[in-house]
Amino acid sequence: MSAFANPAQLFDIAGKVAVITGASGAFGAVAARTLAGAGCRLVLAAGKADLLSQIVAECTALGAEVVGVNQRPDSEAACQALMQAATDAFGALDILVVASGMNKVAKIADMPVSDFAQVIDANVTQSWMLARAATPIMQAQGSGKIVLMSSARGLLGHPAGYTAYCASKAAVDGITRALGCELGPMGITVNAIAPTVFRSPLTAWMFADAPEAETVRTGFLSRVPKGRLGEPEDLIGPLLFLASKASDFYTGHVLYADGGYTAG
Ligand SMILES: NC(=O)c1ccc[n+]([C@@H]2O[C@H](COP(=O)([O-])OP(=O)(O)OC[C@H]3O[C@@H](n4cnc5c(N)ncnc54)[C@H](OP(=O)(O)O)[C@@H]3O)[C@@H](O)[C@H]2O)c1
Repeated sequence: MSAFANPAQLFDIAGKVAVITGASGAFGAVAARTLAGAGCRLVLAAGKADLLSQIVAECTALGAEVVGVNQRPDSEAACQALMQAATDAFGALDILVVASGMNKVAKIADMPVSDFAQVIDANVTQSWMLARAATPIMQAQGSGKIVLMSSARGLLGHPAGYTAYCASKAAVDGITRALGCELGPMGITVNAIAPTVFRSPLTAWMFADAPEAETVRTGFLSRVPKGRLGEPEDLIGPLLFLASKASDFYTGHVLYADGGYTAG
């Protein structure tokens, strides 16, 4: 049947097996809810056991089969164990969403080298190790979807002490493009979602009704064509696209989830 007869079917990921890291965090939880609601079978990983249990329970209530792994992807062995959890439980690995990551904000003179290294490790090295661990399984299947988490700060600088974060997200963009080239011939797509400010515990202050937040928000929003900050629901479309057959011809892209912020 022609794909034009039922275009929505291209986005159907029911039954697919997904590994999501940082499932205790804002974006990891959004990815988990989105893929659970779409009928995927999930391996959810995080270091915070209590938050991991909550999102596992939530996704189970949505009807998904879920395995929780109380582990950060902070070593090669941990990354391999996560992929193994998917193949052991569900016999496949179709989708990897890397939603673990962190930021440390300090002016360059005040940032210890150890903090710089920690941000690079969490955002860059771990993304690379996770993709590396997923590759042989996806290669053997002849298909796979890798979704990394970048940021508008991979493209744009920031004056308030973002050297580590901006460097790390620019490196995620580099991994996305280089790996997109490398894994494309194997049937694996590699793309990144690059948000600006989204509602999350870390950014809650910017959504608040306080005068300081209002000033920062107004200045920021004057540069956002859509005129608002990001909401979790804004990530559903990009996630479904990048995790599904609909994106089979699209790899090495950084998709700005930013209301047009980086367009101007
Ligand atoms: N929120 C935004 O506005 C925004 C904007 C642009 C980009 N992003 C990017 O989106 C990703 C997720 O952000 P988020 O807002 O969901 O953040 P979040 O709520 O803090 O979640 C990130 C998760 O990553 C894990 N993590 C923290 N430090 C880690 C480390 N050193 N090593 C491994 N895992 C670590 C934590 O889980 P455990 O402690 O349970 O392991 C945490 O729950 C990040 O890469 C972030 O840079 C966010």
